[in-house]
Amino acid sequence: MKRLTNKHIVLGVTGSIAAYKSADLVRKLVAAGAEVRVIMTPSATEFITPLTMQAVSGNPVHQALLDEEAEAGMGHIQLARWADLVLIAPASADSLSRLVHGRGDTLLGAVCLAASSPLAVAPAMNQAMWKDPATQENVATLKERGLHVLGPAEGEQACGDTGPGRMLEPDDLAREVETLFDTGTLAGVKVMVTAGPTQEAIDPVRFISNRSSGKMGYALAEAAAEAGAEVLLISGPTSLQTPDRVQRVDVRSAEQMYDAVHSDVEGYNIFIGAAAVADYRPIEAKASKIKKDSDTMSLEMGKTEDILASVSALKHRPYMVGFAAETDELEANARKKLEAKRLDIVAANQVGEDAEGKPLGFESDENTLTVFWQGGSEAFPYMSKSQLARALIELIASRYRNEHNIIRPESFG
Ligand code: C5P
Repeated sequence: MKRLTNKHIVLGVTGSIAAYKSADLVRKLVAAGAEVRVIMTPSATEFITPLTMQAVSGNPVHQALLDEEAEAGMGHIQLARWADLVLIAPASADSLSRLVHGRGDTLLGAVCLAASSPLAVAPAMNQAMWKDPATQENVATLKERGLHVLGPAEGEQACGDTGPGRMLEPDDLAREVETLFDTGTLAGVKVMVTAGPTQEAIDPVRFISNRSSGKMGYALAEAAAEAGAEVLLISGPTSLQTPDRVQRVDVRSAEQMYDAVHSDVEGYNIFIGAAAVADYRPIEAKASKIKKDSDTMSLEMGKTEDILASVSALKHRPYMVGFAAETDELEANARKKLEAKRLDIVAANQVGEDAEGKPLGFESDENTLTVFWQGGSEAFPYMSKSQLARALIELIASRYRNEHNIIRPESFG
C-alpha cells in the first residue's frame, strides 16, 4: 500500500505563476495513492485551466462558493469534511493574508474555515513580496496557529529575480505531504490490532462468518503506524491491502486468531480488538463435504474463546481497547462491555442506519463512533473510517500516555 492511500487531499490553487506546477503536483499525490479534489481561485484560472486540473485529478474542479448546483453536490462543508488535509499550493501572498484574516468569501477560504483537518501552505511569490514584513508576519501567525508552511525554496524566479519565494518542487511537496500524516504520538509504542471477520469451518468447503470488512481495523493499524507505533495486524480473511509499515499475520478461524494473538502479545503496549470474532463455531468440522440428503440439518455449535477478554486477563496486560457493535442501548451495552472485559476504552458503533438513513457499521466506508472509558466519553461524528481511525488513535495515544505518565515530547505539538 502506498503512503497516501486512502488520504483525501483538497488542493487549493491560488493566483501565482507556480500554479502551472500544480498539475504535476496532483499527479505526484495521486501516484502516492491520494485522492485529490482541486479548488481553484478565480486568479488561479488565469494561470492554468480547470480542465487540466480536472484531467489530472480525475475529479471535477471546484470554483464557486455561491453556486447552487455545486453546493447541492459537494459543497464547501462536505469538501471540508471530506478532507484529510487541505493543501494550498501555490499559496500567493494574498491567499496567506486572507487565511490570517479568516476570510470566507471564496470557496477556498470557506473550506479552510470549515475544515478540521490539518492545513498546509506552499508559498510562491516574488522574493520581495515574500520578504515584505506583512507577509512575514502573516506566515508567523499561520505557523503559530499550527498551519504547516512548506517552503518556499530559493532560486531563480519567473520574474527574473533571484531569492526566496519559489514554490517547492512537486516531488519535494509530495514527500513533505506524506510526512504530515506522521504524528509521532505513538513513537516507540508496540500496538497489536485484530481485524476482519473469522471463518468457522462447517466442512472443507463451507464456513460460518459475518459481514465485517476489516476496514476499521486496517485503518486503525495504518493510523497507529503513522503515529509512529510498531504495529502487528492479526487479520481474518479480507480483501484489503496491508497498510504501509504494518506487519500482518493472516488467520482464518477464531481459534487461529486466539493462538496468533497469544503467541506474540507479550511486550505489546496497546491491544486493539477490532476483529469481528465469531462467538460460536461448529463443534465438529466435518472431514468431507456434507451431502444435501435430508430436508433439514442442524449444527451443534460451541462458544469460541473471547480473545479480548483473554488478553485483558493477562498479568502484564497491554492497554486494552475493544469495540462494541450494537443495534440498541449503545451506551449501556458499551459500558457493560468495558466492565466485563476489563477494558480501558471501548469504541461503540451503532450497526444499521443512522437517523438520516446513512449506512453505519460493518461494510460502509463511513461510520460514527462513541468512545467510552471509566468516567468519560467522546463522540466522533459521521466521517470516513480512516478519519475516525486517526481520531481514535490520537485519543488512545493521549489516554495511554496519561495513564503511564508519559510526557508528550514538545516536538509533537
Ligand atoms: O462481546 P462482543 O463480541 O460484542 O465484543 C466485541 C469486542 O470483543 C470486539 O472488540 C471484538 O474484537 C472482541 N472479541 C474478541 N473475541 C471474541 C469475541 C469478541 O476478541 N471471541
